Amino acid sequence: MLNFPSIFESVSDLDKGQIDALLLLAHKFKNRVSHTTDFTKAKPTICTLFLENSTRTKHSFQMASEHLGGYFFDFDVKSSSFSKGENLEETLLTLKCQGVDLCIIRSNENNHLERLKAAPPLRIINGGDGTNEHPTQALLDLFTMQEIEGDLNGKRVCIVGDSNHSRVANSLIKLLPLYGVEVSLAGPKEFADQCAKKHGLKHFEKSSEYLKECDIVYLLRAQLERHTTGDKAAHQNLLISYNKDYGLNSQALKEAGTNQSIYHPGPCNIGIELTHELMRTSSYKGYEQVKHSIFMRMAIIQSILQNGDKNVGKFTNLSTN
Ligand code: CP
Repeated sequence: MLNFPSIFESVSDLDKGQIDALLLLAHKFKNRVSHTTDFTKAKPTICTLFLENSTRTKHSFQMASEHLGGYFFDFDVKSSSFSKGENLEETLLTLKCQGVDLCIIRSNENNHLERLKAAPPLRIINGGDGTNEHPTQALLDLFTMQEIEGDLNGKRVCIVGDSNHSRVANSLIKLLPLYGVEVSLAGPKEFADQCAKKHGLKHFEKSSEYLKECDIVYLLRAQLERHTTGDKAAHQNLLISYNKDYGLNSQALKEAGTNQSIYHPGPCNIGIELTHELMRTSSYKGYEQVKHSIFMRMAIIQSILQNGDKNVGKFTNLSTN
């Protein structure tokens, strides 16, 4: 896709036309209409460089790369010179010289890709940076919701849980309104007050209210490892009271008289934000999100590799880039 950003950091890096094109391409991949990769070279080399653990994102990028006919490897951070102090830019330039075309990076540092944008060492996709953004998760969620719920215009999505510390929430809050979705938040103030204030969103502080006021529920994991206040005991108490007030099960949906789809980016804290029993019902769409992630990530990989950016990797001064 021409003009697709060579460093894809945020959903705000794309305009609506580009997002529409990704959705269409992901849909084509889902229907197996297009088997052609039409890459800029026959077999592009794609790697993940994850400084935080992952199951879904890392393996979905691997599956997507391989479905597209690319060569994929996972950069082993622990055994690399990165762990001896080589910085990210030099690491990426080295990978570029070794033939890597695209790197998907996850880090606990917010906005760390910003400094690479002036001269991209290679094409980069943000696989989640700190509490900032997780753009490919939000795009795959949008795609999954469209596939399951149909046209989203006028729908109300309530993001429930620890939105204050969620990079997924930050991306979804920017993305979903482009498709006519009204986004609200639910959760105790420790989880949702700052995010509601930052984005000017309706915040349901009483769990009994939000179910009646939304069409789609999007649950988040309580991410206490990202909280900068409170000790272990305080965190444990927060989890217990969160589960008591907001923990979701089929009975709660029944009592509210509602039957929303329940989305969750994973991993779930089973028994905290929702029950194992609810995850085994047709209301739970978490596995659909995982399945659809492959098609959206295929669309993103193909689009970034075809962006025609001649500026990528210039620093290496290689005879060909
Ligand atoms: N949703 C998500 O990012 O999951 P992983 O941490 O397993 O990649």
